[in-house]
Amino acid sequence: MNGRPKVMVTFGTRPEAIKMFPVVHALRTDGHFDVKVAVTAQHREMLDQVLAIAGITPDIDLDLMQHGQSLDALASRILLSFGQVLDDEKPDRVLVHGDTLTTMMVTLSCYFRKIPIGHVEAGLRSGDIYSPWPEEVNRRVTGTIADLHFAPTQTAADALLAENKAHEDIFVTGNTVIDALLATKSKLETDPALSKGIDTALAGVGSKRLIAVTAHRRENFGEGMRNIAAALKTLARREDVAIVYPVHPNPNVAGVMNKQLGTLDNIHLMDPLDYPNFVRMMMRADIILTDSGGIQEEAPSLGKPVLVMRDTTERPEGIAAGTALLVGADCDAIVEHASRLLDDPGSYAKVAQAHNPYGDGTAAQRIAAIIASRHRLT
Ligand code: UD1
Ligand code: UDP
Repeated sequence: MNGRPKVMVTFGTRPEAIKMFPVVHALRTDGHFDVKVAVTAQHREMLDQVLAIAGITPDIDLDLMQHGQSLDALASRILLSFGQVLDDEKPDRVLVHGDTLTTMMVTLSCYFRKIPIGHVEAGLRSGDIYSPWPEEVNRRVTGTIADLHFAPTQTAADALLAENKAHEDIFVTGNTVIDALLATKSKLETDPALSKGIDTALAGVGSKRLIAVTAHRRENFGEGMRNIAAALKTLARREDVAIVYPVHPNPNVAGVMNKQLGTLDNIHLMDPLDYPNFVRMMMRADIILTDSGGIQEEAPSLGKPVLVMRDTTERPEGIAAGTALLVGADCDAIVEHASRLLDDPGSYAKVAQAHNPYGDGTAAQRIAAIIASRHRLT
């Protein structure tokens, strides 16, 4: 290896970009590495929103998103295109994040060339290969191949140990999403104009209690999405409540939500928000309803009760701490739990406690230091 080792950071979707931008910045600050950023752009507009805010211009952008893409078509596009990137760039190490198709297919391309993989947000497990689908298998395959596992919590590290991964390859770093969240919160304090969009949109809501919503999981497509829409319609009848909902552009989500909820006064459907605007919206919210992974990690840090509209979660720490409640994509359960939180200040106070089970804001720095040590640079 001549000169600084080439570390390629790869991602493709909005949540990977949010959780990897602190890693890109930390690797660059560390100074030991020749850092390259390669994006599949499995997401286009939502990825670009994060890149712009994070000040990152990818070295390689495969621009692979197609509207309404199927899993197999996207998977094969990533595998073929990313192999060429690796052949051209010959990185010494590749970093992937979490559990998307980008994560798994980039990992496979690296495996075919024996390029070592570092897995950021390693060890999350629901125990059910169809929930979340296909993420549970994406991350298991990635974990099989990676030689560095950056586990966000001890629970995640224990899951990897239980799968016989080597103790010396597993590091509890915290989740980089907390790095991104805390950095963005402090930017909002010094530059309130960053959230002008959502502040303007929420001006009309006045002192109403705010329910913030997101939903996009594949296992909720169809019946689950219709149940979520029905629950929101019921909650929107309350005059003391306003619902804000940046809708995921996946046609299986946007189609249902625009049709079912698009004309209701008390429900504000909007395009996906950039990260600072979304963080501001979470800070203003009284309750968050979501099936997102990342939001389950952010909500406890902000002290916001979150109703998780899924049957399983690979993030048990928020549930154990009481900030997150697993309610499923079940209309009655969503309405019942949300109403209890809104109507019973005692129940609300119990769950709305700020704590950080997922990290302390320095995960990316730890990851950079571990990679430097693995490549014998320190
Ligand atoms: C993907 C990930 C999921 C992750 C989620 C985060 C897989 C299989 N799924 O799901 O793990 O939790 O991202 O949001 O990797 N679209 C746009 N513009 C965008 C992004 C998406 O129009 O910026 C639309 C396109 O029509 C696209 C569709 O959404 O084809 C689906 O995108 P895709 O990445 O395949 O799946 P997600 O449901 O977003
Ligand atoms: N998010 C955002 N704008 C939005 C909705 C979500 O910036 O309009 C952020 C959110 O704060 C979290 C991440 O996107 O960090 C979650 O992404 P998503 O729910 O799409 O994916 P998941 O985390 O479920 O994989």
